[in-house]
This record gives sequence, structure tokens and C-alpha cells, in this order.
Amino acid sequence: MSKSKNSTGKSRSFVTHLECSETGEHHPAGVLHGLSKAGHPLVVEYDLDALSASVTKDTVAARPPDMWRYREFLPMGGDVEIISLGENISPLIPVPRTQKRLGVGELLIKDEGRLPTGSFKGRGMAVAVSMAKSFGVTRIAIPTAGNAGAGLAAYASRAGIESYVFTPADTPAVTASEIAFHGAKAWMVDGFVGDCAKVVADGVEEMGWFDFTTLKEPYRVEGKKTMGLEIAEQLDWHLPDVIFFPTGGGVCLIAMWKVFKELKAIGWLQGPMPRMVAVQSTGCGPIVKAFDAGQRVVTEPWENVTTQIHGVRVPYPLGGKMVLDVLYESDGFGTAVDDEAVAKERARVCAEEGLHLCPEGAACLVAVDMERQSGRLGPQDRVLVFNTASGLKSPMPPMNNLLAKGKPVDYGSL
Ligand SMILES: Cc1ncc(COP(=O)(O)O)c(C=O)c1O
Repeated sequence: MSKSKNSTGKSRSFVTHLECSETGEHHPAGVLHGLSKAGHPLVVEYDLDALSASVTKDTVAARPPDMWRYREFLPMGGDVEIISLGENISPLIPVPRTQKRLGVGELLIKDEGRLPTGSFKGRGMAVAVSMAKSFGVTRIAIPTAGNAGAGLAAYASRAGIESYVFTPADTPAVTASEIAFHGAKAWMVDGFVGDCAKVVADGVEEMGWFDFTTLKEPYRVEGKKTMGLEIAEQLDWHLPDVIFFPTGGGVCLIAMWKVFKELKAIGWLQGPMPRMVAVQSTGCGPIVKAFDAGQRVVTEPWENVTTQIHGVRVPYPLGGKMVLDVLYESDGFGTAVDDEAVAKERARVCAEEGLHLCPEGAACLVAVDMERQSGRLGPQDRVLVFNTASGLKSPMPPMNNLLAKGKPVDYGSL
């Protein structure tokens, strides 16, 4: 679809089958899937021997700098039209002043705000919409905290697919408008993302929608693996010690851990695997609560949601068990931060480093600070945190300084 020079060139698909995340039952590749037959998320499996025989790190390095340079790790075969809006590799930005203040060995921020639609959500949507189109899907619906809806709206329009997007009524205005502006049929629901999900689930039959609810279709995870692939390549195939991710539905943690294991299996990674940390809020932290209680699953919805950190506001994540598996397997943990600390940190880093984080990204830095103090992070740790969206998508404190035209300016008071 894209006419720009990028890596969307054709290759074969190395997908062998899809597996039920709960029962392990195999499902065939090459047909449209939602949840598994048993009603759980499906996981895409690859022939890693054939994959690694067909591509090397050098082949990848020679391709244009976009997410499609990792196409062997993605599900699209050569017959799938790639729906692209010019996805770039997001930068890994050192923040030396913040690093010193927080007292860790190294602190890098992967800034996902640079991607189409201003968040990491475009990665999953580029792949999932490409796959949906190849299976003949013409109408997609999604419940979303906002950014996934913006991503779907953009990629669906690009693909010529109709999209219906349902967001909570207090979604930041820029994102809510962005969704409609991209051509989606956009609706706000007076509730949380779970209430939006009910609208979608109840409407699937009548509206003929393909349901893009987080983890109800298998390919968004695959697109988000490119974040892990980029980190690995940017750090010369040595992963950081600890990765902090603001976690709502948890797809990104699941996706990165999946691809790290794939890379390990084919021998591309050197050194140990990172500890994965789910950052949530004290006003909505079902995964942290379950982790702290030593549970393997999230057993009940978070009751009283109070946070305004929209990306982590998922009271009852469908993939809770899969996220907890990642935390336990990686020797990571979950940690919850409060809104006030996040607002302060966002302002501080913006002025301290010139880097405008979204609240979810700032939440990760608050978590780094807390965990240095708790001792779960050490002074030598190489830490990577995700800024998952552009700071410009979230409200900022107003600026009301005004000079009266024609009046003398008191320069000393500026
Ligand atoms: C800015 C931002 N950060 C983080 C998240 C959480 O991502 P995930 O659902 O993959 O855990 C979201 C999800 O809406 C988001 O919009």
C-alpha cells in the first residue's frame, strides 16, 4: 500500500499454526481467528529453524529502518498486502540527568510517541489490520482507552475497512477527536473500557463486526513484538537488565517476552534475559495486586477505578494470566504508582531533559524511583522504560502569561 521506500518487500510466512494459550490446542494458520475454540487468546507459532535459516542479523541491518525489516518474525506471507503508514524505528534516548537523579546504572527511554498516530499502538494495528484485510474482513470494532482506537481508525481507513471505536467518556479530547477524524464511527461510553468491550461483544452478531478487543484477535501481539526486536538490535543484541512498561491489557509485555524467547531460541541474543516490570496505578492495578498476592491469574475486576492514567485503566484484563506468567518467568514484578507523583515527574522530565512524556511514560519513571528505594532495582542496573505515546496527546497545565500590546514591558519580571 505504501509507496514510500520501506522494508515491506515480500517474504514467506514462517507461521506453522496458532495455539490456545490455555489448552495448547492447535488451530490452523491461514484462516481468520478470534479467540481459541476454548475461548482463550491464541498464540502464533513459527518454524524458528526455517526462520533462522532464511535471515541473518546482517540481512536485517541492511534493510530500511522500519518495523517491516523484521518481517520474518511477523505473520504476513508474501500474498498479504501490508498496510503501512510509514512506521519508523523509535529512538532509544539516554536521559543522563534523570538517570543520575534516580540513581541507576543506565536509563534509556524508548520513545514510541514518534510512530504514526503518536503511540506504540500503530505497530499492532499495522499487522492486525493487514492480516484482517487479507482474510476479507470489512468491518472492525474495538473497545479502547483511546490510543488503540486511533491506531485502528487510521490503519482501517488506510486499508479501506470500516471501523467502529468505543472509548470511555473521559478519554482525553485530542485522542477522542483523532479517532473520529481518521474516519472511524466513534462513540464514547459512559464507563470504563470493560463497558466499551460489552458494547462491542453484544453488537458483533447484529453488526457483522470483526472484534478487535485486546487479545481477542491474535496478530496485534505479533506487531508489538517489533518493539522487542528494535530494542535488541539497537542494543547490539544485549538486552537491558530491566524493562518497565505501563501495563493496561498487557499486550506489550506479552509480545516483547514472546519475541525475546524467539530470539533466544535462534541464538541471536547475548547475555541474560531482562526482568519485565508491569507498571500500573494505585487507582487501578489488578495485575500488581494479583502479583503481590502470589496469584497466577487476575481473579476479579479492580473495584474502584480512580486513576486518570488512561492507558493503564483496565480493571479486568483478559490477558491477566499471560502477563503474570511473564512477570514470574522473567523474575520481574508489578508496581503501582499514584497520579500526583506521575504528574510531577512528567513536568520535571519535560523541563529537565526536554523530553515530553505521556503520563504512562512518566509513570514508569516514578516506578523506577520507587523501586530504587525499595531495593528491587540496584544502582548498577541498566534500565529501559517505555514512553508509550506522545506527550502532546495528553492535557498539559495551561500557560496564561500575557503581555498587554503597546504597554512598556518590565523585562526584569519575565
Ligand atoms: C499510552 C498508553 N500506554 C500504555 C498502554 C497499555 O498498553 P497495554 O494494553 O499493551 O498494556 C496504553 C493502552 O491503551 C496506552 O494508550
